[in-house]
Amino acid sequence: MTISILINGAFGKMGQETVKAVEASQAFKLVGKLGKSDVLKTALIDKKPEIVIDFTTPEVVYQNTLTIIEHGAHPIIGTTGLSDEQREKLGNLCKERQLGGIIAPNFSLATLLMIKYVKDCARYFSDVEIIELHHKRKKDAPSGTAIKTAESIAQGRRKEGYASFSKEMISGTRGTKKDNIPIHSVRLPGLLAHEMVIFGGEGETLTFRQDTLSRKAFMPGVLLACRKVLGLKTLIYGLEHIL
Ligand SMILES: NC(=O)c1ccc[n+]([C@@H]2O[C@H](COP(=O)([O-])OP(=O)(O)OC[C@H]3O[C@@H](n4cnc5c(N)ncnc54)[C@H](OP(=O)(O)O)[C@@H]3O)[C@@H](O)[C@H]2O)c1
Repeated sequence: MTISILINGAFGKMGQETVKAVEASQAFKLVGKLGKSDVLKTALIDKKPEIVIDFTTPEVVYQNTLTIIEHGAHPIIGTTGLSDEQREKLGNLCKERQLGGIIAPNFSLATLLMIKYVKDCARYFSDVEIIELHHKRKKDAPSGTAIKTAESIAQGRRKEGYASFSKEMISGTRGTKKDNIPIHSVRLPGLLAHEMVIFGGEGETLTFRQDTLSRKAFMPGVLLACRKVLGLKTLIYGLEHIL
């Protein structure tokens, strides 16, 4: 039996790649491709998709996810920029309705493995900084992946890292912080999506580096999410939970 999927943000960079991946799979049937001028609610009523994949923008993703849940479709949210509070509200709604959904700040396997391994390393190295690098049109900073990485490190560490002694001569020089972990965001043409996590210890450092070189890297994760979401009863945050 094929699973019906609607893609919101289908004409953006991630949306176009996702359309190709869904169309190439026999397990899924693409029932709708929506852009900015379409009305999500109307499409949900007309097409009745089992799953909606959202790759839109941080400004509209919360309302989109609410609408998807309210119409009983399973949300797979690739768009970044949801706050902790918004995620919690959406999670409660899914729980009430026993509806499975997935919020995945990153669908790439290399990134998911990095997020998993840094948690172990944080047990031994409490001092760490994150550098995330993206193409210059990325709308949010820091990236959803960097926030997820910091959360994973915070879960793994036994104590917090050092308090920086540097006085910022120019505000922002030491980056922003999530769970007291500095995050530095680089935006440049030529980049796609990259992240470094640098742990520092006595006389040594340990560096993880992940590079997404093509948006195709996200597609196995997107399709995995589509296969798994129908069996879930809650909204999960992070694809690592279903790997
Ligand atoms: N989870 C992951 O693995 C992953 C990977 C890469 C990117 N992302 C995230 O995915 C999101 C999309 O990235 P992208 O690179 O594809 O951006 P993009 O190329 O700018 O695509 C976004 C698309 O959404 C459309 N859009 C805007 N508002 C809309 C609405 N209300 N309803 C329907 N469509 C709407 C935009 O239309 P207009 O161009 O007409 O405004 C555009 O076509 C970003 O948040 C990005 O950070 C996630």
